[in-house]
Amino acid sequence: MSFDAISAAELIAWYAEMGVTEALDETPHDHFAAAAELAPARQPVARLVPPTPQAAGRSAAAAPAPPDEAALSARALAREATTLDELKTALASFEGCPLKASAKSLVFADGNPAGKVMVVGEAPGADEDRAGLPFVGRSGQLLDRMLAAIGLNRQEHVYIANLLPWRPPGNRTPTPQEVAICLPFIQRQIELADPDILVCIGGPSAQGLLGVSGILASRGRWREYDTGTRTIRAIATLHPAYLLRQPLQKRLAWRDLRALKAALDTL
Ligand code: URA
Repeated sequence: MSFDAISAAELIAWYAEMGVTEALDETPHDHFAAAAELAPARQPVARLVPPTPQAAGRSAAAAPAPPDEAALSARALAREATTLDELKTALASFEGCPLKASAKSLVFADGNPAGKVMVVGEAPGADEDRAGLPFVGRSGQLLDRMLAAIGLNRQEHVYIANLLPWRPPGNRTPTPQEVAICLPFIQRQIELADPDILVCIGGPSAQGLLGVSGILASRGRWREYDTGTRTIRAIATLHPAYLLRQPLQKRLAWRDLRALKAALDTL
């Protein structure tokens, strides 16, 4: 079969649709072996959490820290950070989340950390992974338009982050273990940013931070979120990626945005 430019473009589009978003080369590589070789030099989990007797018998290269050890390590690291910059540095040094190995970038935050509103999405996609910033792709552009509709922008009013700072391969939904491991970091990020209002975008963010499941049923209701230092108002709303697929649901998101605007007007 001869490959013309159109067939090649169609093949690439199909790969992207299937979640294959990175071009490697034609020689197969065992990336698990490569990661294992790097592991001993990059394993702060073992330093931060005393190893269990079982873990003590294993070499760090043989197995990554179990999820509960990694979550404990994450909590200890996050608690030590006293500024957002320190937290970003701590995340960059953290090796307990397997997503880091396949991601290109740590996607920490964008916007104004002094803004009254903090928006927390799910996890970076391919565009965000490339740019190292949250919500820069199609979903992000829609999010910016949604915020603009109530007079907000990320430069001045809104601080934006994600439940997970690394892209899950192929944009799959993060596993409960991945969420549990990364949760202490985003919780600390919220505490340090200290917004007046937290907006959880999409089901995983609402579930992870507010403990509610079923985004269609739980969106649009005001809840209390304890940052660790104070209680703030929080609301869950629909994810712009979902709204791009289901544009009729934008009317629900619009209701949530109006509720957000009304709450901001009382501050
Ligand atoms: N979707 C998210 O939840 N976060 C991003 O940063 C991009 C897309």
